[in-house]
Order: sequence, then C-alpha cells, then structure tokens
Amino acid sequence: MTDFLRLGVNIDHVATVRNARGAGYPDPVRAASIAAAAGADGITAHLREDRRHITDDDIARLSAALTIPLNLEMAATDEMLGIALRHRPHAACIVPEKREEVTTEGGLDAAGQFDRLAPLIARLRDAGIRVSLFVEPEAAQIDAAIRLGAPVIELHTGRYAEIDGDARTAELRRLSDAAALAAKNGIEVHAGHGLTFDNVGPIAAIPQVRELNIGHFLVGEALFVGLGEAVRRMREEMDAARG
Ligand code: PXP
Repeated sequence: MTDFLRLGVNIDHVATVRNARGAGYPDPVRAASIAAAAGADGITAHLREDRRHITDDDIARLSAALTIPLNLEMAATDEMLGIALRHRPHAACIVPEKREEVTTEGGLDAAGQFDRLAPLIARLRDAGIRVSLFVEPEAAQIDAAIRLGAPVIELHTGRYAEIDGDARTAELRRLSDAAALAAKNGIEVHAGHGLTFDNVGPIAAIPQVRELNIGHFLVGEALFVGLGEAVRRMREEMDAARG
C-alpha cells in the first residue's frame, strides 16, 4: 500500500526519566520493543551532543536489539557522523542543535549551511544510510534539500502544534504546500514535532506525508495508559485521518 503512513516512535524522553535519577530504568530499549509490538514502524532516537537523554550505550543497544528501523537524529558534526558510520542506522535525520534549547526549536538551515552539509550527507549516503533533513516548510529549504541530494525531508510541525485558529490553518497550508513541492521533486516527506492525539489528524491527512515521528506526547501518555496503548491509539488516529 503506497499510501501507508508510517509511525516512528521517538523514545528520547524514556531516557530523560531514567537520567533524572541516574538509575538504569526505565530502559529506552524496552520502550522501543513495546512500541514495535504495538505497531510502531520505526524507532527514533536523538543522540544529543550533551547526552542529556539518549546515550552512546543506548544507540549501541538499540542497534543490536531493534527488529524495526532505527532513525538516528543527529547534529551535523564530525563526532555524530563517526557514530552514525559506526552503527549504520537505517536512517539519519539531521537536526539543528543548540546546547541551551529545551528541545529542537526549528528546522535546519539547509540553504545557509549548504557547504557544511554537502560532504556530511555524501558520507552518510555512501554508507547506505537514508538521510533526512529536518526543515521548516519553506521553498528555499526544500530547494536546498534537492540540491544536497537528500532523499527525505522531515517537516517541522512544532509551530503548527503551538498555534490555533487562522494561524494554524495558515501553517497547515504551508506544510501541505511544502510536502507537495518536495514530493514533486522526488523527495520523501516525513513530519514531526509536538504532535498529539488532538492535532495529528490534519498532518496525517496530507497525502504526500509518508512518516510521522512522535515522542514527547506518547511518552507522557504512557504514564496514564501504558506505552503500547498510547502507540495503538496514535496509529488509529493516523489511520482515521488517512481515510
Ligand atoms: N522529529 C524531530 C526531528 C525531532 O527533533 C523531534 C523531537 O526530538 C521529534 C520529531 C519528536 O517531537 P516530539 O517529541 O515533540 O513528538
């Protein structure tokens, strides 16, 4: 089914809870296996430069244990490139990273950082890793992704998730236009950031979007209903929106 919308479950914040006490639990690898059993199509983990949640050991254990694809979120640095080349995840999503931010605050400036990104993307692609660029829904960024030879972009839905009313409608239009432009140019479109049961529908309904990456909400919801149930319900919301 070409129209199928994949769900990537981001398990970073299972590690946030673990690291709050420096204990060995809850284990993000166990979370990944529960998410997979509940219908996740992939697992996403962001190895930040400051290792505030996911650690190098988590990436090694996920790489060894996962039966579904791993999408490694990473900053465009030599250190992260080395780690990606060592573990060879199915995909690497390049994100901007600022040490002081609470979460990824916006898309990558693929247009402005073209010269730095080009060799890094080439190395990842040569290693057989599917490169995705996390970008704002802007034509200039999509144009840069095309010129950089990125096979995938992930559209930043954080702004959409934070606003209401007419502003949200306008942002949704920007996201749909960007998805259409990317797909027309042969780029696979993913989306993510800030998605919940309440706001996922319109994003899931954009026909060119092939994968959603969702984390913080699912890990929070897991406290109340369990991770498996949270993933199953998200899957249902996505399928319903897809029609
Ligand atoms: N996609 C990217 C590129 C991200 O950086 C994040 C946050 O780590 C997500 C998706 C998931 O966002 P959220 O945790 O808000 O669902």
